[in-house]
Amino acid sequence: MNRDSQVIAIARVLLPAGRDRLAERYELREGGLDATREDVLAIVPGAGALVADPSVRVDAEVLDAAGDQLRVVANFAVGYDNVDLDACRERGVVVTNTPDVLTEATAELAMALTFAAARRMSDAERDLRAGHWRGWDPAAYRGIEIWGSTVGVVGMGRIGTRYARLARGLGARIVYASQSAKAQTESELSATRLELRELLEVSDIVSIHAPSTAETRGLIGAAELELIGPEGVLVNTSRGPLVESDAVAAALESGVLGAAGLDVYENEPDVSPRLLQAPRAVLLPHIGSATIPSRDGMASAVADNVIAVLEGGEPPSRLI
Ligand code: DGY
Repeated sequence: MNRDSQVIAIARVLLPAGRDRLAERYELREGGLDATREDVLAIVPGAGALVADPSVRVDAEVLDAAGDQLRVVANFAVGYDNVDLDACRERGVVVTNTPDVLTEATAELAMALTFAAARRMSDAERDLRAGHWRGWDPAAYRGIEIWGSTVGVVGMGRIGTRYARLARGLGARIVYASQSAKAQTESELSATRLELRELLEVSDIVSIHAPSTAETRGLIGAAELELIGPEGVLVNTSRGPLVESDAVAAALESGVLGAAGLDVYENEPDVSPRLLQAPRAVLLPHIGSATIPSRDGMASAVADNVIAVLEGGEPPSRLI
């Protein structure tokens, strides 16, 4: 069996911060930003490494199309719900991701969404641009303040912890739900760990930072939105399947939920038409990690991981 392929299949694109280093060493096959599933299947045969991203499903079909020279799937993201880890494990393929370099960017975007949703910025700006502003109105666009609020962080990993620090710095009380207790975070931020239901009941703002797994699918639906309440704010920068878009739209329409700030959706790039029309929603196109240092750091981490595996070393961010 020959496992020494010098071909890298980049399913879509890799930024120059990583691509240039790979191009110096290997032959690159690139699907491009608009690559379809068929395009990906066409470029993987014989590749030693596959560079994927959150919109590229890496499953048994792709792995089999690649063949037995494939040694590593390097995901250009920290999240890896697009990669079938069991299928990779069965075929002896290493999987890597890009943690750390996007922690600040994603936490800051979550905080930006918190401000924007809490203060109804999308509705206000849309009205102004449409020429509907009739002057200062004491009752218009009233939201809530972060100072003095209770912020519920669901998933206290790297990004959740950074977001919690920002919220604490703005004067919020922090509660969190997490699979394990975080003693250091509790003492640093005076944070209290709660069950999800209680967190939703006591929080004014709820920000989701948990991974997408079979257990977290549909974590926030109609019943949970009701607990967040008519003045409450929901923010999601993790993965779309954790939050039911149509339930959010319905809760915003009926006033059951105060506001929502979302960066991720169940079937990206498709967004629920009902959500697009909903009031008090700030909707962004999955830009959590979209800063220059973060995206360059992610691309560079992809190259580090690929080169390490293909040269027989240990990749810096190995998942399996
Ligand atoms: C990630 O790294 O998982 C981000 O969602 C990509 O922007």
